[in-house]
Amino acid sequence: MKDIKKIELHLHHEGAAPPALIRGLAAEKKIDLSGIFREDGTYSYRDFDHFLSVYEAATSVLTGPEEFARLTRAVLEESASHGVVYTESFLSPDFCGGGDVGAWQDYLAAIRQTADEAERDLGITLRGIVTCIRHFGPDQAKSAARCAAETAGDWIVGFGMGGDEKVGHQADFKWSFDCAREAGLKITTHAGEWGGAASVREAVEDLDPARIGHGVQAIDDTALCDVLAERGIVLEVCPGSNVFLGVYPRLKDHPIQRLRERGVKVTVSTDDPPFFHTTMTREFEGLAQVFGWDEPDFDEITTNALEAAFCDTATRDTIRERLKT
Ligand code: ADE
Ligand code: ZN
Repeated sequence: MKDIKKIELHLHHEGAAPPALIRGLAAEKKIDLSGIFREDGTYSYRDFDHFLSVYEAATSVLTGPEEFARLTRAVLEESASHGVVYTESFLSPDFCGGGDVGAWQDYLAAIRQTADEAERDLGITLRGIVTCIRHFGPDQAKSAARCAAETAGDWIVGFGMGGDEKVGHQADFKWSFDCAREAGLKITTHAGEWGGAASVREAVEDLDPARIGHGVQAIDDTALCDVLAERGIVLEVCPGSNVFLGVYPRLKDHPIQRLRERGVKVTVSTDDPPFFHTTMTREFEGLAQVFGWDEPDFDEITTNALEAAFCDTATRDTIRERLKT
């Protein structure tokens, strides 16, 4: 499973930080982060809300472009070791310069330079999706959207929203999504991880996204599944994350296979791999074991991911070739 070539479309950059990297940076900066780690060195949190605050605490030691360069190298080495040849990761100007455009450009330059080196060394390509954070509110999202619009191009290819789905509504962020769309960015947003099918419907109706982060609770609304299928809206499904956080009790209860059977296009990602004790290899192994997925199934989801990737045609062609080797 490790050797199968993979594409990952839903990965939070900071959420992929190896705990050892965060612990090392905390020690260098003499910041006490002992409360966010278990004795075995893994991240420690009780539930999703607590996860979000532990996530922000871990991120607090990523204080400049150099730290994000180190993070980027670590993330890409780990992903490449699991056969990933193309990744889109969520980058938040909130954590990269506090929403200031000039500071964001400096962080982005460091991330891109590291990604270019990793592409040469490891054969993995990275593209960025600027992401606002729902529980930081619509005003702060506007700063993220301005950063996104200023840096939109062949590397920053999308705009999205993560964070606490129980706070506010998708429509509260319409200005930011319109700003990003006008700058040529493709749209994705987290919905239907915690907010039910109604939240997915809201996302579809109010933001017209090309993809939805998670979206899995759409399974509870047959008509909505038909809309997703007809419009070709692709779900960035993260089964291991959903099971670890308790959205579904066991992988066998997860709707990924039922969504496929309803004609909804799905892809597979890890979300925040060290937080959920997962990797792309583990995701594939779980799907093979529990749903009997085999080569044609994995080929189908990788093709879905290749077609739904926000990159330009030249990059897509390169990745298509890389998948064959
Ligand atoms: N940010 C990082 N991981 C997230 C998740 N699973 N849901 C929402 N926001 C997130
Ligand atoms: Zn996510």
